[in-house]
Amino acid sequence: MKQTAAFFSSRRSRRLSTLGLALLLAAQASACRQDMHDAPKYEPLEQSSFFKDKRTSRPLVAGTIARGKLKEDKLLHTGRDGDALSESFPFPVTEGVLARGRERYNIYCTPCHARTGEGNGMIVQRGYKQPPSFHEERLRAMPAGYFFHVMTNGYVTMPSYSLQVGAEDRWAIAAYVKALQLSRHANVADLSADEKIRLEKGETEPAAGSGPGHEPGHAKEAHGG
Ligand code: HEC
Repeated sequence: MKQTAAFFSSRRSRRLSTLGLALLLAAQASACRQDMHDAPKYEPLEQSSFFKDKRTSRPLVAGTIARGKLKEDKLLHTGRDGDALSESFPFPVTEGVLARGRERYNIYCTPCHARTGEGNGMIVQRGYKQPPSFHEERLRAMPAGYFFHVMTNGYVTMPSYSLQVGAEDRWAIAAYVKALQLSRHANVADLSADEKIRLEKGETEPAAGSGPGHEPGHAKEAHGG
């Protein structure tokens, strides 16, 4: 009986000393972890003792261009072909491009220029300066690149839209504005034989029927055609 008690007590004290060792190790380990929390690296905006200006965030080397931001295509990004504003587009103007242009135009330009391009949009009706109509002779004569240029750089009181509208979309809008202008001066002689027959029969294209100015306003229209 005595022996058993001695056996138990020695087991217990061994257990206690194991626990003590474990605690000691844990304490040491946590001292190490303190170092890891403050690793020898700079944190954003931390002061530097290495650089003269004490800034750890270094300025970009002059001429640095972010990945994917190299504006190699001059026509696409400036609207210019050589020095002159371009008559042509940097990519083919398909029906899809025109649909995209109409959608973007309706979002970004109609508040002032109105869906018809006459320049009496809702903001203008509430007192904003009235832009000229896109249908006036001077603007009808302007090349596509001019519209791109105005959207990119702004024009007198009109702000630039280059932050809200990407370069491709600005060209798509320019194409749509050109189409708006053409819509008032379309010539029957320009139609194909097929289209002339349809016109005589009074048929419209299946997905059309939404001329500028009276659109149904469905989100679906962006896929039109
Ligand atoms: C907040 C109102 C507003 C919005 C939105 C706006 N414009 Fe304008 N725009 C104007 C005003 C005002 C003028 C006339 C500027 C002046 O002469 O002071 C103008 C002028 C123009 C001109 C004619 C420049 C000239 O030679 O007379 C073009 C082209 C044009 N805008 C295109 C666009 C396109 C495309 C969009 C859509 C991306 C757009 N604008 C969005 C207000 C706006």
